[in-house]
Amino acid sequence: MPQVKVGLVGFGIVGAGVAEILINNSEIIKNRLGSEVVLKKIADLDINSDRGVKVDNRLFTTDAMEVINDPDIDIIIELIGGCDYAKEYILKAMENGKHVVTANKALLAQHGRLLFDSSEKYGVDIAFEASVAGGIPIIKVLREGLAANNIKEVLSILNGTSNYILTRMTKEGISFSEALSKARKLGYAEADPTLDIDGSDAAHKLTILISLIFGTPYHFDDVYREGIDKVLPLDIRFASELGYCIKLLAIARLIDGNIEARLHPTFVPSDHILANVINAFNALYIQGDFVGSTLFYGLGAGRRPTASAVVADLIDLGRNKISGAARRVLPLSFASPPEKELPIKPMDQIISEYYFRFSAVDKPGVLSKISGILGSNNISIATVIQKERESDSSVPLVMLTHEAREIDVKKSLELIDRLDVVVEKTVLYRVEKR
Ligand code: HSE
Repeated sequence: MPQVKVGLVGFGIVGAGVAEILINNSEIIKNRLGSEVVLKKIADLDINSDRGVKVDNRLFTTDAMEVINDPDIDIIIELIGGCDYAKEYILKAMENGKHVVTANKALLAQHGRLLFDSSEKYGVDIAFEASVAGGIPIIKVLREGLAANNIKEVLSILNGTSNYILTRMTKEGISFSEALSKARKLGYAEADPTLDIDGSDAAHKLTILISLIFGTPYHFDDVYREGIDKVLPLDIRFASELGYCIKLLAIARLIDGNIEARLHPTFVPSDHILANVINAFNALYIQGDFVGSTLFYGLGAGRRPTASAVVADLIDLGRNKISGAARRVLPLSFASPPEKELPIKPMDQIISEYYFRFSAVDKPGVLSKISGILGSNNISIATVIQKERESDSSVPLVMLTHEAREIDVKKSLELIDRLDVVVEKTVLYRVEKR
């Protein structure tokens, strides 16, 4: 029986999960692949801590290059994360003629073009299923399952930590920081959860999704992002009273030849299918022109779901190796990439419905001042409610608008926030009804 020989660089939580799945499920993997997967070497700076999986000690090294330069290894799995060493290791592995599996979303979102060009130059595969939505095989879906479709729209929840925090804030009425400490206690949040809560992690994933959908390696900076750290229980409560919940939504869509790629806390109708995606789960609601609506749901993080995705890639690349068919499906699945990169729509130009919460003094004429400014900037009000007083100096005035252009919204809010009857910066959320 042929063998597929693998080197693992990075033996943290996911790396240990990969070793575990290769041991526990060796029989099914061997039968599906028609070959044995042999873990030849594992590199990590810490080769002494117990990761809860029994691996032959002789496989370990602290020198990643020892794995990458081993002529006997066919496939390198990169699981160290970050952009510096990981990039160097992957490029060197490719130069050495090795296929690469990586879960490194930050690296792909920032250096995708370089990695894909390098894989072409050296005639090797690079697979990255685990980089988006962990255990949900969404890369395979976009590259292969939906390859016959023009993808019209993706609405997705791509960060489990943020989704967990927003779920707790919604269900328990607690603050962002209380929900964050719960997430920490349960091990959902990293020791440094910055990339999760400032939206970077989900924006990395959205960058990879739009690259796959539109066939060009877009860059992380192309994607608009806002995190969840400014979400208040007050707005969650008002959202709920209006029939919405707040989700950190990653949105990709094509409108009139322009791509919208944005990530921000969003009002989603409470009966929308994504409203029911709670706690640490991820989901993607994808519209293709022929397939219609599809929904993918599962765990986007964690040792076992992520290892499942990594090893699925390993099996794929193992099959390519056995059949001598490297690069049968290209990294972004476009054999002929689009001649012209589709432009990303500047955020000012998007059209959306909006929720505003004004903090205004409670006296005659205030509403007419605010609505006058909105009206003269082409913003039409759909609903307006004055809520109970939350402080001595102001009352919350909550508004939903019809569709408006973001630039008009910004202009109006700048003027409104300068009114002497408005005491705090107006809170804005975009509303997604589709
Ligand atoms: N920290 C991420 C999340 C998982 O909370 O979804 C890894 O991307």
